[in-house]
Amino acid sequence: VSKFRILGIETSCDDTAAAVVDSDGNICGESHFSQQETHLEFGGIIPNVAKELHKLHIKSVVSYRVKKKKIPVNDLDAIAVTMKPGLALSLWVGMTYGKHLSVEYNKPFIPIHHMEAHALTPRLVYKDLEFPFLVLLVSGGHCLLSFAKSITEFYTLGLQLDDAPGETFDKVARQLKLRNMDMFKNKSGGEAIELAAKSGDPFNYEVRSVLSGKRNCDFSFSGLKNAAFRRIKEAEEQYKVKASGVIPNYPDICASFQYTVTRHICHRVQRALAFLEMENLITDPAHKKLVISGGVASNQFLFQSLTKVCSQFNYKTYSPEPALCTDNGIMIAWNGVELYRTNSSRIIHNPEHLYLVD
Ligand code: KG4
Ligand code: ZN
Repeated sequence: VSKFRILGIETSCDDTAAAVVDSDGNICGESHFSQQETHLEFGGIIPNVAKELHKLHIKSVVSYRVKKKKIPVNDLDAIAVTMKPGLALSLWVGMTYGKHLSVEYNKPFIPIHHMEAHALTPRLVYKDLEFPFLVLLVSGGHCLLSFAKSITEFYTLGLQLDDAPGETFDKVARQLKLRNMDMFKNKSGGEAIELAAKSGDPFNYEVRSVLSGKRNCDFSFSGLKNAAFRRIKEAEEQYKVKASGVIPNYPDICASFQYTVTRHICHRVQRALAFLEMENLITDPAHKKLVISGGVASNQFLFQSLTKVCSQFNYKTYSPEPALCTDNGIMIAWNGVELYRTNSSRIIHNPEHLYLVD
């Protein structure tokens, strides 16, 4: 296949995003609209609100990307769209818009699995990242540890049993009312906690290891979240803080919560590495790589701790820049490039027959 360009559309959660990536991995254009501000006002994502916001912005997000860089839709080779997993109402907006473009301009439609796209984004940045490799996805909605064998083959070693790590960071930050402080106003819960934790004591409260008796690599974060909630409540009573007030020892609680989450993730990854070692699944030293993706991957305390665990097994850690780790259109377009390049059977050449449930 000669040079080609793929448009990627992402609306699985609260970001309306689009990008064009070419066959060499060059980002030809991208745009992004985050609904975070609105959802923060409501105290969480309300699916119907998310859907309406996607509907409101999808056209401008996609056409901004096209017009600003002067890429006519006709010059694109295919349209890649996130199909799952995500909020059904949100996904629907991107899918119908993508299908409409695909049919109107007679371009192949490439259905994209959001998690696979996260897992493969590092291959856009690290050109020498060959299969197989181990990938850890830690985001606002997901936590999973997977053995990536090819563009379409993933063996899941561990999955979240309850809350996702980013979600717990957000909930603990909210319980601490960190957003009432100017320095954290425009930060996500995770960013706020990481920043606050820098000046805190990671051993402020103790939490027993989670799932340590389980013989798999699954994750559970709700117990860690509840332990933090209990500690916050205790401190609120102790310091008699007002309704909108922030407890004075919040950095200690942030540091301790971040520590318990990190310790849990490190334990599960350590278990996975031991398993891969035992089963001789990755023997070539060049493939001993752990790729960390998703919004929480930008947490440096977590990344450095995982790097230490990995070094004991002679594994190297990789993490794309934060803008590529969180939800974006580039990862969808790039996954489209990878599927298009290999002429994947997933590509739909007659999208008018694509049946989308409203
Ligand atoms: O990947 P992403 O956009 O979420 C999903 O696709 O589900 O990542 C957003 C999540 C939020 O929960 C946010 O709090 C978290 O990533 N996050 C962090 C950090 N930066 C963002 N969590 C911990 N430490 C950070 N530095
Ligand atoms: Zn995501």
